[in-house]
Amino acid sequence: MSSVIATQINKKRKQKPNKSEKDALKVITIDGPAGSGKSTVASLVAKFLCWTYVTTGAIYRTLGWILKEEGVELSDVEGVKKCVQILVDKYRQDPKTGSVYLQDLDISERIRTPEASERASIIAKDAFIREKLLPVQRKVVISCDGAVVDGRDMGTIVFPESPLKIFLTAAPEERARRRAQEMRQKGLEVDMDALVKEIYERDERDASRSVAPMKPAIDAVYLDCTTQTADEIAQLILKHALDRGLVQFDGSPM
Ligand code: DC
Repeated sequence: MSSVIATQINKKRKQKPNKSEKDALKVITIDGPAGSGKSTVASLVAKFLCWTYVTTGAIYRTLGWILKEEGVELSDVEGVKKCVQILVDKYRQDPKTGSVYLQDLDISERIRTPEASERASIIAKDAFIREKLLPVQRKVVISCDGAVVDGRDMGTIVFPESPLKIFLTAAPEERARRRAQEMRQKGLEVDMDALVKEIYERDERDASRSVAPMKPAIDAVYLDCTTQTADEIAQLILKHALDRGLVQFDGSPM
């Protein structure tokens, strides 16, 4: 990323950190609807800061996958508890590649299908599951030395103490167009009308659920990337990180 902001950050890296900079929790949260570009933007920011990118949607997706594999219904409280425990014991994310594993099984692709998205969105409405997944998400993120984390309630519920919270959105049609492009690249067939409908339905479900609905934190920076590139948005976020002293100034890798 070659830009004025990147140059500013590189210059700042050579200066000494002040106390508030050293003490700040090294977590940037990015919330927003499906397909808003959160993952691309979060990866770019994480890469630039040498932090880890964590996508909490993958945790919900994985639990949905485990529940399906184990044949457990949401109404089965004991069964759900067991599946959550499997997740706690076996879930891991490769910090370099972002691939998601359950023990040694790479499930990255299996949890990326439209069916897995749908299932994740449905289980995400369940208050019991959300409560169980809260410490899992915190553990994954806090074990990283600096993380850019995306989801729906990162700034409001999971990391309310984050020094930089972003809410990233884009028009539903644009999000559908981007999702369609991704799917075509993977050789999947695309029904555009169905995709737009699915996006509207998922937004509605994620934003209207009674527990931890998707919404910007009160102190979040609201960014719309309908017409801006991921790189432009990432640079804006880096500028906010710089302004808030989140960038480490001692010359060591961030
Ligand atoms: O970010 P994603 O599309 O992979 O997320 C899949 C679903 O998981 C999404 O519909 C809502 C849910 N989710 C959530 O409720 N809270 C999170 N922090 C992350 C995801």
